[in-house]
Amino acid sequence: MSYLIGIDLGTTGAKTILMDEMGKELASATEEFSLYTPRPKWSEQDPEDWWRGTVNSIKNALAKANVDASEIKGLGISGQMHGLVLLDKNYQVVRPAILWNDVRTTEQCRYITNTLGKEMLVQNTCNPALEGFTATKVIWVRDEEPQNYERAYKMLLPKDYVRFRLTGEIAMEVSDAAGTLLFDVRNRRWSDIVLESLGIDKELMPPCYESIDVCGRITPEVAEMTGLKAGTPVVGGGADNACSAVGNGIVRAGKVLASLGTSGTVVAHTDNVVVDSDLRAHTFCHCVPYKWYVMGVMLSAAGAFRWFRDSLGDSEVEAAKMSGSNPYDILTAKAEKAPVGSEGLIFLPYLTGERTPHGDANAKANLFGLTLRHGKRHIIRAVLEGITYGMRDSLEIIRTDMDLPVEQIVATGGGARSRLWRQIQADVYNAELVTINIVEAPAFGAAILAGVGSGVYNSIEEATDELVKITSKIEPIAENAKIYDDYYQIYRELYPALKPEFDKVTEIVERLHGE
Ligand code: XUL
Repeated sequence: MSYLIGIDLGTTGAKTILMDEMGKELASATEEFSLYTPRPKWSEQDPEDWWRGTVNSIKNALAKANVDASEIKGLGISGQMHGLVLLDKNYQVVRPAILWNDVRTTEQCRYITNTLGKEMLVQNTCNPALEGFTATKVIWVRDEEPQNYERAYKMLLPKDYVRFRLTGEIAMEVSDAAGTLLFDVRNRRWSDIVLESLGIDKELMPPCYESIDVCGRITPEVAEMTGLKAGTPVVGGGADNACSAVGNGIVRAGKVLASLGTSGTVVAHTDNVVVDSDLRAHTFCHCVPYKWYVMGVMLSAAGAFRWFRDSLGDSEVEAAKMSGSNPYDILTAKAEKAPVGSEGLIFLPYLTGERTPHGDANAKANLFGLTLRHGKRHIIRAVLEGITYGMRDSLEIIRTDMDLPVEQIVATGGGARSRLWRQIQADVYNAELVTINIVEAPAFGAAILAGVGSGVYNSIEEATDELVKITSKIEPIAENAKIYDDYYQIYRELYPALKPEFDKVTEIVERLHGE
């Protein structure tokens, strides 16, 4: 039997899974690490923490699985996207990593947008200059910490730093490079014109591979530390969203992922490069060689439901404690008692601003249409429906504006657990919704990449056809879909109507309560 390892280097921790070639998970282990916010808007991590967490999670997973390390054919890493790691000439980390959710770089976004112009962004990077993306962080270091910029010799992304420590090789792969804003996403190589226009030396960029390419092997020292075998191949791996798409079987046109985690993503596979002319959705290189994916990102998705539980769900949390059940199940049971569309109550889920489709940090959440007839059950249902309308915004960009086929939607994340929320999704999307057998999709996807790179599988498509199985199917109910269509039209009109007030209230709050 052959075994494979997939590691997911997330923002809260490193998870290692060890599976056999049939996709059966034999062991998994997670190690958490800290996130530092030394100043407002900053979000940083210490790459040494990633390394320690990864080593421990590998060690613990191996100890649990009890397999012969020489039968582990390959290792792949999935990673949080966009984070900037700078190494000096001695391969030492220059400064703490600046993460994807760090928003200090608004000025650098403006500089990049003005310098490159919209046409180059659409044609080359296929994405807008957002605070999250790596290029803005590189320019920030150049602007604000010139002594650190001077020392920088190579730039890596989080998972690539971990690969460097595992193998000694400096490398990146296309799915993560696509999120740097320095990459020619159409041609899958560093963009000379973007680098030149921004005055960034190409030498800073590591060599870039396809995700299934073997780009290093476990060193003898790491073998000693972890129990892995020296020489085990390590593949390019991928961005967490791309690996999650692989792990969920989103590897062919027509397959779409709707992931309701803290944030929400709608991801569609595409065989050719397709770019939203308004750059509201992202176009990134897929882990599937020479394929791409399009993604819309909602900042508060199931996170908005958690907010509701924590701030307004005291009695349900208490009842769950007493009965030993899950507070979310009690909340959704109440929501089920309200009618489809919550009798005209519409929730805007912009608790932390919004990325797709508005790209607006000032957007605010809202409960629109309250009357005396509404009770808690309506409000809970409206929260679930409003989050789902937000997901539909991304889906409509993909399905209607970009004209990509949507044949089947795979629901995943915390939001896919509830039968009610799955039905709301099928009805709001007006599409067949399925769930699958894979839980740890990013790590599982990374293990599949390792399997293809090491010859255990012939291709990503073949592996996912074999290993990813549908476990449930929900069809939309036509009558509900019609009601949701009507309310969704109003939902869409609320943001533009409220936008000036969002800006005004932000200004007042910053003046009164800003740091
Ligand atoms: C994608 C993004 C996040 C991170 C989280 O553009 O910023 O999904 O990848 O890990």
